[in-house]
Amino acid sequence: MEYRVLGKTGIEVSCVGLGCWPMAGMAGGANWSGIDDEESIATIQHAESLGINLLDTANGYGAGHSERVIGRALQGRRDRYVVATKVAPRSDDPAEPVQQYIARNCEDSLERLQTDYIDIYQLHGEPDQADMPAIVEALTRLVEEGRIRCFGISTYETEIMQALMSLGDLAMAQIGYSIVNPVGQAGLRFATEQNLGTLIRVPLAQGALTGKYFDSLSRLDKADRRHERFDNPRIQAALRKLSELAFLAEGGKRTMVQAALRFVLDTPGVTSVIPGAKDRAQLEENAGADRVSPLTADERSRALAIGEEANWPLPPYTNWT
Ligand SMILES: NC(=O)c1ccc[n+]([C@@H]2O[C@H](COP(=O)([O-])OP(=O)(O)OC[C@H]3O[C@@H](n4cnc5c(N)ncnc54)[C@H](OP(=O)(O)O)[C@@H]3O)[C@@H](O)[C@H]2O)c1
Repeated sequence: MEYRVLGKTGIEVSCVGLGCWPMAGMAGGANWSGIDDEESIATIQHAESLGINLLDTANGYGAGHSERVIGRALQGRRDRYVVATKVAPRSDDPAEPVQQYIARNCEDSLERLQTDYIDIYQLHGEPDQADMPAIVEALTRLVEEGRIRCFGISTYETEIMQALMSLGDLAMAQIGYSIVNPVGQAGLRFATEQNLGTLIRVPLAQGALTGKYFDSLSRLDKADRRHERFDNPRIQAALRKLSELAFLAEGGKRTMVQAALRFVLDTPGVTSVIPGAKDRAQLEENAGADRVSPLTADERSRALAIGEEANWPLPPYTNWT
């Protein structure tokens, strides 16, 4: 497994990480079907033997369920993992000072994760301009107290990254980027210039780029959060178009999943790609993206052309990529 340094932090992360949103399962309206907590725990623990040390979660995934599962999995092995979690950038209670809100949520995440530090603490979306100084002050204090090792933000907006950098030591950004989603390119360029670390979310377009839904949605549980989204004519047409990506896996040099992850890994500015995985078999295939041959320049441009023609719904028109 290749390890890359997260920006200026010195934190070394595996270039393939593990996105733990699906591990929220059906809890708190997360609606990821086919999740078994014991298998999630086994998957997190198996990550270590595959060289994967990076876990990404959020306090909101299944109302804390994903963090709780990670907490159970990391007993006795916490120091061998880099844990990234998130907090929304504003309180539901307008009367609560934002510093207090951030500190309180950090303590709650620490408790669920059964740890006394978080490696990477991310704002889960863009804060209001007026709140930024107080938020950065709160995050900086958490670093000084040793509760978090660094902080960052999940956003596509380079202006927001820049504004936070002017107020404090922003270390990284979480950005969406994949064969069907070029929106993250500006963020990746900015991160390269500024030496910000990057974690790349939704690299498989929530499963659309695995190949298994190209010809049929019947493999997608009706209770799953994606069923309603995928079950419409635009996505059906996109999936049919995306089936042309199968050429990337010809000759057994890599699977479709590994091609989609390798595409991200070889993009300048990427520190780590964080595909979600539901079980050990998926995780093993995803980890293998580290070893497969890179896409050639021709394969890359053909893949991008197919991705563009597929016309996948993109931010800011959707919040699910
Ligand atoms: N900051 C944010 O706002 C934000 C937003 C979204 C996600 N994220 C983070 O990014 C991570 C990745 O995004 P994501 O989980 O939404 O989507 P994703 O990584 O694009 O897709 C994950 C899904 O693809 C399928 N899959 C994964 N590996 C597979 C394999 N080897 N073979 C077959 N199927 C496979 C699984 O679902 P099925 O098997 O059911 O198809 C899995 O749940 C999340 O887990 C989360 O940590 C952050």
